[in-house]
Amino acid sequence: MPLRYKKEITLKDGQDCLLRSAVAEDAQEILEHQRITSAETDFMARYPDEICDTPEKEAYLLQAVEADPHSIMLSAFVSGNLAGSASVFTDKVHSRCGHRGDFGISVKQKYWNEGIGSALLQACLEAAQRAGLEQVELGVVDTNLRAFHLYRRFGFQIYGMLPNAFRYRDGSYAGEYEMVCKFSEQK
Ligand SMILES: CC(C)(COP(=O)(O)OP(=O)(O)OC[C@H]1O[C@@H](n2cnc3c(N)ncnc32)[C@H](O)[C@@H]1OP(=O)(O)O)[C@@H](O)C(=O)NCCC(=O)NCCS
Repeated sequence: MPLRYKKEITLKDGQDCLLRSAVAEDAQEILEHQRITSAETDFMARYPDEICDTPEKEAYLLQAVEADPHSIMLSAFVSGNLAGSASVFTDKVHSRCGHRGDFGISVKQKYWNEGIGSALLQACLEAAQRAGLEQVELGVVDTNLRAFHLYRRFGFQIYGMLPNAFRYRDGSYAGEYEMVCKFSEQK
């Protein structure tokens, strides 16, 4: 069964926010969101100019996620605008890794600290558990304190540190904490 999700929440500032599964029609807006959020911090894996998929290709990928019972991609809308996006993707090719999910998230800077990241993460973890996954994993740049705080609050633990995980265009590097949330260890 595909993992469909839809929920209305109230943000810390009182605004309404709709969380729902991403659909193919969101493709253009999601690409724009990825370009914006990739430019706002040094914490995302891609530079904005490396987000070159066409809306058609993105729509195709979104359709594949919609049909996949073990993956989820959620969008958060405030006043009809895409404010945040989060996903859990599972390796469908290698069955030995089928119990693991890979988490990613981005919220536009103007919506930070309103609770969107928490709501997206919670929804993704619930969906991952419903899908039968046993753990969700991620990597986070070691200076990304906001994200790190969020992940710890939802039960992620550090299992490693990857030095020089990112090399930036100016020649500097950033290390990354590797984190895992094991559902069997959740209270
Ligand atoms: C990380 C991110 C997803 C968080 O989203 P968000 O909507 O701001 O998250 P929330 O509002 O739900 O929660 C933010 C939490 O960080 C806390 N926080 C804010 N600034 C902080 C800081 N400098 N250090 C530690 N914690 C901080 C807030 O107090 C809040 O925690 P609380 O709810 O326990 O009070 C968002 O900032 C983002 O997209 N950042 C850029 C992209 C990115 O870093 N993605 C993750 C890559 S691994």
